[in-house]
Amino acid sequence: KKNWVLMVTAQSPTNIAVIKYWGKRDETLILPVNDSISVTLDPEHLCTTTTVAVSPSFNKDLMWLNGKEFSLAGARYQRCLSEIRGRASDFEDEEKGICIKKGDWEKLNVHIASYNNFPTAAGLASSAAGFACLVFALAKLMNVKEDCGTLSAIARQGSGSACRSLYGGFVKWDMGKDLSGNDSVAVQLADEAHWDDLVIIIAVVSSRQKETSSTAGMRDSVETSPLLSYRSKEVVPKRIVQMEEAIKTRDFPTFSKLACTDSNQFHAVCLDTRPPIFYMNDTSHRIISYMEKWNRFEVTPQVAYTFDAGPNAVLIAPNRKVATLLLQKLLFYFPPTPDTELNSYVIGDKSILK
Ligand code: PMV
Repeated sequence: KKNWVLMVTAQSPTNIAVIKYWGKRDETLILPVNDSISVTLDPEHLCTTTTVAVSPSFNKDLMWLNGKEFSLAGARYQRCLSEIRGRASDFEDEEKGICIKKGDWEKLNVHIASYNNFPTAAGLASSAAGFACLVFALAKLMNVKEDCGTLSAIARQGSGSACRSLYGGFVKWDMGKDLSGNDSVAVQLADEAHWDDLVIIIAVVSSRQKETSSTAGMRDSVETSPLLSYRSKEVVPKRIVQMEEAIKTRDFPTFSKLACTDSNQFHAVCLDTRPPIFYMNDTSHRIISYMEKWNRFEVTPQVAYTFDAGPNAVLIAPNRKVATLLLQKLLFYFPPTPDTELNSYVIGDKSILK
């Protein structure tokens, strides 16, 4: 019989690093120069939904991203596909008359349809959610019996930060020591219920695509930035220990101090790179100044900010009350204009937007 289709749908949110990953020690396997820690967003927001299917009637591997055909030729997609196919196991559904033996998966073609529930062009990390979702869905489809840690190591080979989206809550990507990369995996530090008062607001400063891809930027930083080698050896290892403790004890002032300082050091590394990389713009800098003033004015820090490889601000408030105040202040000081598209995505508690 050739008319059957076997299908799996999965959903995965993106994650935001509070101790940043920047720089690879192995570009093919995507092994980082330091550990990193992130928080995975609520699946309702900034999330990828991917359906994967196999059928004997499919004559080649195909993918659609947001409804448009998308090439799977890239090495990173090929790696993820072959890692999963190589770990597939027997599958049988007597009712539908489907019987797939371990070795047969290699001969079956896949169709992949992936959607982001946020504007892909908005410069918001989409590859993390995308690869985590793809690897997880393919693993379910092909009856892969590996644990989440192993799946995270496969997703890592698609996009480094994707390995952290395999878990909810707070997640650490352990850089690992092994040459194979098998120990460069994500581990969950605390689940999503552990610190659920936190509210994350993403202020979309610009929806333009970034000029320097993270791959090219990291390569230049590793080759030219003395600050990056100092950061990865001397700074991040200590910060990781402090951040783990701050998360464990829900210590917002320490969490805020570490996250803001680490984001600023990452952007300092970008400036220290030859040629220099500018991810933040004037609005990003104004947001930082404003948040710093607010934090200094109060007895303890009220908010945390962090910026990835782009100008958009990720703002973290300790609770709903502060988040509401933050949104009011943001909209007052940074009203949306044609060139400053300060839309706010509220993560964790949608009602604040209304
Ligand atoms: O996984 P990539 O190649 O998209 O790199 C992500 C790098 C940062 O977002 C800037 C930091 C991080 O740890 O997510």
